[in-house]
Amino acid sequence: MIKLSKRLQKIADYINKEDKVVDIGCDHGYLDIYLKNIDIKDILATDEKMNALQQAINNFKLYNVDINYVVSDGIKNVDIDNYDTLVIAGMGAYTIIKILQDINNFNNIKKLIIQSNNHLELIREFLNKNGYYLEDEEVVYEYKYYVVMKFIRSDKQINEDIIKYGIIKKKNINYYRSVINKYLEILNLVKKDSIKYNYINKLINGYQNIIERIEEK
Ligand SMILES: C[S@@+](CC[C@H](N)C(=O)[O-])C[C@H]1O[C@@H](n2cnc3c(N)ncnc32)[C@H](O)[C@@H]1O
Repeated sequence: MIKLSKRLQKIADYINKEDKVVDIGCDHGYLDIYLKNIDIKDILATDEKMNALQQAINNFKLYNVDINYVVSDGIKNVDIDNYDTLVIAGMGAYTIIKILQDINNFNNIKKLIIQSNNHLELIREFLNKNGYYLEDEEVVYEYKYYVVMKFIRSDKQINEDIIKYGIIKKKNINYYRSVINKYLEILNLVKKDSIKYNYINKLINGYQNIIERIEEK
């Protein structure tokens, strides 16, 4: 059985036996090999670059698994009607949102598992507006912090605070501290009292409030 990184394992933990999964931007294909190993029946590995997909194909051979694959920019070459779960991980928010903009074609997609390398708030906001509800998210530490988000098809809305700060969990207090440190570094590079400066300052205050509330409990 292939051993996944903590980040990929968290993604895999959000997938159930009956899910029909498209892994967009599969690269090495490790997630797909693991999913096959745990008997997930329908998996499609995709990547926009043939050389990335070739790595996956080589790994599928190495691990002796039979997994369907296709070269595709997002879902453009995917017969999406055959699937109900999308994984998009290890990319930046703007790339992910560009892929998600085909959302009108996602009618039968009941679950999205997203791990964006930045601007999580943009992903939460976009999906919240487009019929997906942030049901859960988990922070994983592996040399740095990653947030894995699980969205399900629902008209239920999340509020502005959740869009900005995510689902607050006491166990993530060190993550919130690390976010503050990252923003403080950025603040040093930004002109004082500019719009960006004030925006980042607000976010820092927001995270400080979260930490205070957690510490009070
Ligand atoms: C850093 S790797 C992440 C691999 C894997 N998903 C993971 O989380 O470990 C990002 C992959 O996404 C692919 N990618 C980037 N934009 C894409 C797009 N629009 N459609 C499909 N794949 C894309 C890249 O070619 C690359 O292989």
